[in-house]
Amino acid sequence: MRRILTYGTFDLLHYGHIRLLKRAKQLGDYLVVALSTDEFNAIKNKKAYHNYETRKKMLEAIRYVDLVIPEENWEQKVNDVKKYFIDAVVMGSDWKDSEKFEILRPYCDVIYLERTEGVSTTKIKQDLGLQATRKNVNQIPETKFEREHRK
Ligand code: CTP
Repeated sequence: MRRILTYGTFDLLHYGHIRLLKRAKQLGDYLVVALSTDEFNAIKNKKAYHNYETRKKMLEAIRYVDLVIPEENWEQKVNDVKKYFIDAVVMGSDWKDSEKFEILRPYCDVIYLERTEGVSTTKIKQDLGLQATRKNVNQIPETKFEREHRK
């Protein structure tokens, strides 16, 4: 059995995440996701919209995901690979050649998959944030297009 491991926050689960998980699973038989905890995100100066438990439940509901484990620090990766008998660590291409994953090469394959264009948690937050501002503050007048397409 070929066992795959990937890391991430997977907040506001989106199509880029699903494609990454699908392709990761296709590279083996068993997919482990190491999910950044809220405490680890704080160290990285990131704050997820959904807390760890919610993000974990959402990942567990995806057919490609077999096991979710916590990612609690930068140093645990070699140990994860050994503990879960991992054959390949798979990450999106934003991590290509990163030392954080290249150090795993003596222990397993390290594979980078192309990111899905045009979607990210950051972009979703930005896009929705702009809409929320417009609605809440109610200062920015509707455009002609918005008025004509209002439901
Ligand atoms: N990913 C991807 N394509 C995207 C977005 C993410 O393949 N459009 C991959 C990342 O490369 C990573 C995994 O999904 O391997 C988890 O990424 P994560 O950082 O949780 O998601 P992002 O949407 O990139 O979040 P952010 O905008 O906060 O960086």
